[in-house]
This record gives sequence, structure tokens and C-alpha cells, in this order.
Amino acid sequence: MEKAEDILPEVLKNIVVQQRELPPLECGAARWVGSWDPGVTFCMGAMHMNAAGVLGRCPEARKAEIRARVESERKRLAGPLAVLALKGGVGFSGFDWSRNESAAKALGAMRRFSEGRPPISGVLLTGPTGLGKTRLLLASHFALLEAGVNSEYVTSPALRRLFRDASSFTEEVAETARGQLDRLVYASAVHADDLGDVEDDQRARGQFTEGIKDLLDRSRAVWAFAVNLSSEEAERHPDLSGKVVSRMQYGAEIVPMEGSDYRLSTATVLR
Ligand SMILES: Nc1ncnc2c1ncn2[C@@H]1O[C@H](COP(=O)(O)OP(=O)(O)OP(=O)(O)O)[C@@H](O)[C@H]1O
Ligand SMILES: [Mg+2]
Ligand SMILES: [Zn+2]
Repeated sequence: MEKAEDILPEVLKNIVVQQRELPPLECGAARWVGSWDPGVTFCMGAMHMNAAGVLGRCPEARKAEIRARVESERKRLAGPLAVLALKGGVGFSGFDWSRNESAAKALGAMRRFSEGRPPISGVLLTGPTGLGKTRLLLASHFALLEAGVNSEYVTSPALRRLFRDASSFTEEVAETARGQLDRLVYASAVHADDLGDVEDDQRARGQFTEGIKDLLDRSRAVWAFAVNLSSEEAERHPDLSGKVVSRMQYGAEIVPMEGSDYRLSTATVLR
């Protein structure tokens, strides 16, 4: 029998030979080398195609994209992750849910949140310092990112800066901030940490409240919040106000956390 190459014109022969010599693609599709073979799926890098048209995203490209996103978030959040790693651990596993009932409930709520593709209902963790709120939020953020869900993690001070910068007279500053706020609008999941944190700048108060209210009204994401206050305190907090707290509670699983500061339980008191 005649081999395909023997009846092909000279130019196409090169392509066929080249195709055979290239290492196989991890995604299993054929490599695009300039010719269409009907019935064969070609990998174009981001897309898979055949002679009839686009077949979908390349699964290997998608995986690489996810890896890159996780890597860049690990870098951006290296500080808080390092502190957790040093002091009690990072992630869901090893989180001591037996400390009290609210620790178990908070772990359950954040696990459910992080298992959504994307999350379905929001979470509101309230409670004093050192109960693992940040740890649970970061654990969920990375679990979602690794599953390919468009997740964001933002803290109250970062939001404050973004709201301020978004109304800057320097167009470049304003545009960057608006771009970052847009990411929170178009994400599938947002983790907002340290809301209601101490802040003395009275002038920025109104701006923060208005900013977060507007953001929550525009955002398509499902949000998980950690608030450094009790629910009653949160409603009285000038940063948050009833309107903001009401939006945070909308359809959410609320976990009022209690107990002693975990950090203190690891300390040694010398008498
Ligand atoms: N139930 C727990 N099991 C294991 N480690 C815990 C638990 N709760 C807290 N920790 C550890 O205690 C430290 C403080 O936790 P984290 O920063 O998440 O607290 P937080 O509630 O966010 O506090 P703050 O309100 O001050 O921000 C972390 O190192 C965390 O890993
Ligand atoms: Mg915290
Ligand atoms: Zn491919």
C-alpha cells in the first residue's frame, strides 16, 4: 500500500514528517503544524480544533493557567501564609474543630463554601481575634483556585485603599484601583477578611461604607466575610452600618465564633 507521504506534494511531506518528529502533546491532541487533516483534533495551545472548527479549551492549557494563578496568589499572599505556617498551620487539614462548637461550625461552613463550583451561599464568620477566621478564608480561597474557580481574597485595609484610589485625580491610580475592584465584581467567589477592623481615619469612613455597599450591589460573586466583631457590634460599627451588614447576611451561613485566642493557647506565661 502507498504511504500517505508518497502521494503528498513536497511541501506537505515536510509537515507530515515534522508532525511525527515533534514530541507528543500532554493533552493528547495532535500538534498543529500548518495542515488540516479532517477528523484529527489539533491543539493550538489555548484551543482544540479540527477541520470543522473550534472544539473547546485545551485541558492542559487550562491546568497551566490554574497553576499560574495559584502560584501568583501564593506570592501575593506570602506574608499572611508564612505567619499562619509558623504559628498554627495553613489550610483546612489540621484545623482543630474540637476546640468548641463554633470552631466546628465555622470549619463546616467554609468547607461547604469552598466545595461549591462556584460557591452557592455566602458565609459570615464573626468573632474576636485568634479563632482561625483568616486561616479558614485562605484555606477556602486556595481550594477554590486549585479547582479552577475564579476566587479572590481581599482584606479590609486593601479595600480601603482601593476605594480611596478609585476616586484619585491621578487617572492612572484611579484606573488601576477600578480594575482591581472590577475583579471583585466579576469573580465567582470573594473572601473578604478583617472587616470592621480598627481604623482611626474618620474621613475615610463614609467612603468605605459607600464603597463596600456599592461593591456588594454590583458583585456577581458569592462572598465569605470574616468580621472581627460580634454580630451586634458589627451593626453598630461605623464602617459597616446596618445596610452593609444586611447585605453580608443575605442568604449566608452565619457563624458567630467564640472561644479563647488560639495564639494565646500556644504562648508560655512565665511567672
Ligand atoms: N481551631 C484552630 N485550630 C488550629 N489552629 C488554629 C485554630 N484557630 C486558630 N488557629 C491558628 O491560630 C492563628 C490565628 O488564626 P487566624 O489568624 O486565622 O485568626 P483570626 O480569627 O483571623 O484572628 P484575627 O481576628 O486577629 O485576624 C493561626 O496561626 C491559626 O492557624
Ligand atoms: Mg484574621
Ligand atoms: Zn491541547
